[in-house]
Amino acid sequence: MALREVLLVALATLLLRHARSQTSNGEQVVSRDGEDCLSQYAAPATVLAVPEEVVLVLGNSGSGKSALAKHLSRHDGDMKAVRENGEFFIEGDGIGGSIASVTSVPELFHDNETATNYFDCPGFEDTRGPCSEVTTTYYMKDIARHARRVKVLLLAPHFAVRKGQDRSDFLTMLRHAARVLKDPAKLQQSLALVVTKVEAPVVKRNNYDGYGRVSSDLVKAPDSDVRSGVEAFLSREVRPFLAAMAEDSSVQQEERTELRNAVKIVDILLLGGVETRRHGRVSRIGLFHAPDEVGALGDIEIMRNGRAELLELVQGLGYADVQQGDFGFSVSARTKVFALRRVQQLNEDVVAALGVLGQAAKNQSASAYDPSDIRASQERYAELEKKAADVARHLKNSTDVKEFCLRVAVPEDSSVQLADKCAILDVLQVVSEQPVVDHAVLATTWAAPMDSVTEYLKEKKEWHSFLLSLYQRFNSYPVQLQRRSSSTPFPSSSFVELPEFAAEAEALAAFAATGQNLSDVAAVVSTASRGPKTRCVGDLPSGGHAVVEGETVLLSEAVAAARNSCAGPLQLLEVYALNTVFVDDTVRLPSVPLVVAAPRWETLGSPTINLDGEDGEPLGSAPAANCSGERGHDGRPGNPGGPGGVLLAVGMDFAGNKVRVSAKGGAGGVGEEGGAGSGGGGDGGAGGL
Ligand SMILES: *[C@@H]1O[C@H](CO)[C@@H](O)[C@H](O)[C@H]1NC(C)=O
Ligand SMILES: *[C@@H]1O[C@H](CO)[C@@H](O)[C@H](O)[C@H]1NC(C)=O
Ligand SMILES: *[C@@H]1O[C@H](CO)[C@@H](O)[C@H](O)[C@H]1NC(C)=O
Ligand SMILES: *[C@@H]1O[C@H](CO)[C@@H](O)[C@H](O)[C@H]1NC(C)=O
Ligand SMILES: *[C@@H]1O[C@H](CO)[C@@H](O)[C@H](O)[C@H]1NC(C)=O
Repeated sequence: MALREVLLVALATLLLRHARSQTSNGEQVVSRDGEDCLSQYAAPATVLAVPEEVVLVLGNSGSGKSALAKHLSRHDGDMKAVRENGEFFIEGDGIGGSIASVTSVPELFHDNETATNYFDCPGFEDTRGPCSEVTTTYYMKDIARHARRVKVLLLAPHFAVRKGQDRSDFLTMLRHAARVLKDPAKLQQSLALVVTKVEAPVVKRNNYDGYGRVSSDLVKAPDSDVRSGVEAFLSREVRPFLAAMAEDSSVQQEERTELRNAVKIVDILLLGGVETRRHGRVSRIGLFHAPDEVGALGDIEIMRNGRAELLELVQGLGYADVQQGDFGFSVSARTKVFALRRVQQLNEDVVAALGVLGQAAKNQSASAYDPSDIRASQERYAELEKKAADVARHLKNSTDVKEFCLRVAVPEDSSVQLADKCAILDVLQVVSEQPVVDHAVLATTWAAPMDSVTEYLKEKKEWHSFLLSLYQRFNSYPVQLQRRSSSTPFPSSSFVELPEFAAEAEALAAFAATGQNLSDVAAVVSTASRGPKTRCVGDLPSGGHAVVEGETVLLSEAVAAARNSCAGPLQLLEVYALNTVFVDDTVRLPSVPLVVAAPRWETLGSPTINLDGEDGEPLGSAPAANCSGERGHDGRPGNPGGPGGVLLAVGMDFAGNKVRVSAKGGAGGVGEEGGAGSGGGGDGGAGGL
């Protein structure tokens, strides 16, 4: 572990202990829960689609955000009013009766009619521990990153904004809002307060009939009364309290900034109405009534009318142009500490997973190896090494964890779970607003397994290059000559003891240390030092057909071997070398068709391949005359010379001098001498070709 990491862990432990000792015994359980939760934390699976234009519905948990967002966007088909213990409630999917039942994922509701996107944001209050805090913050940052024009609805239940009530619920909401909305001035035309669960107070109304009699009934106070009550609460209770605290020098600077922001928000809410097209100015304080009868929400008059008014308000607001930096979504210091610990653990997991992938890549590369084809193996390893080096370079060039992970190809059949871990790291990175694994660690520790794969393939490539050079050395003329002339078995693995192989022996020792397969050497050497095999196919008294095959063939050796293998005279000789044929001496094969095929030809000195036909056999003398004066017998014509041979040569590389090839027909034999006449001589015959 690097010193820096050690320090980080020490710091985290210290902070954690501090966080624990600070809390009272009841809270300590929460801390431990938090740790457990982050150790099993799974990255949020939902991917938010954030439109550029959104209405953010913000407020404490349980303030009715979901109900409002669904109701305004006409997604309230499932919502109905029920009555319990004399009170009316709204029920519906995702609308929690209890505070903790709400999701951490912001939910988007699109209203077709007004083309408005409502984001039902998770509640401000952090009652659900670090994990939901992390997820919530991650999503809200996502919204902040993508939304470009926003309106903001702050929600507060009616009971929390009434004179004489406990102010803490509303103040909590305001202070969260002040932290999140870093620049309230931008929201001057875009911010409204929606008071939810409004149960208008019932007032007694006296009716006077024309005869001076008075009757009375109970009626709901008008909405304007509710609004003025809220305005009074804001201006007379909330604002002075916040303003005083913002000036209190015993309050920390950061908190005072936040308090001043809260005051600005209150000021905007108190600005008065917003201009609307149809209804002129409407109040910035919207009312979301509690139902006053049971049934589907759409059937309840007070809800229908209320919605129309709220929609007017939302339409009346203008969208504010915002940037990511206008929002301050962040996790608490305590959650940051948990996150840091989780990062350490994930970092180790990811490094281990990358190691397994590296090993798998090495295993996979074994398919490049073919002991029977060293050259092809060498080429494949060279190609793989190049690819691995490219991948390693690409990985090291990643700017962050997410990019790095996206660049790692995990084979489908692999059990390695990198994506999940990377996703969590990315979430923790986003919420902690700093790189969780710094670039140097990515380029070293994280990229190390890939570097190791590259190094491994490079060794394999070099080993095969060495085997190839060893093979070539054993196929060279001096070694082949030595093989041919050696009476003792040619040295195979024991060659390392020969002084002329000192360099090879040294290289071999170095390779052995890297765990290369030394059996390859024996295989290569025995292949290259195996002399050619000669067969006589079709051996007839009239002549034989010989085939010589080997890695490397000395032509003089092949001719001698062929002659030995066939009993009759050679009619045809085929020589095949997989590596080289050395034309090492002049060979004479009168009239024999010769086939030589080898990828490489090398000539030593200036040899000739002589396939000339033999000359015709000379004849004796014709019988002499019996008696004087008679003619002796005529001499017979000379014998024909042998036909010239044919050479079929196949090769690609040719080294050394040009080979001289001669394939003339043999000269005709000399004609028979005429018999001695007792007067005249006989004529000689003509020689054949
Ligand atoms: C909104 O409009 C689209 C297409 O115009 C339609 O498919 C969708 O069902 C509508 N949604 C609602 C909730 O009315
Ligand atoms: C690689 O091969 C070794 C030896 O055959 C094996 O033990 C190991 O599990 C393999 N690793 C992977 C990741 O495939
Ligand atoms: C590294 O990344 C930068 C920016 O993404 C790119 O311009 C550069 O070509 C990359 N280098 C390599 C070696 O991939
Ligand atoms: C080692 O080399 C020999 C000869 O080339 C080969 O037959 C064998 O399969 C190799 N062993 C391994 C483990 O690759
Ligand atoms: C000489 O006599 C022998 C035997 O009688 C005979 O075969 C031969 O042809 C004769 N030679 C000549 C030139 O007549």
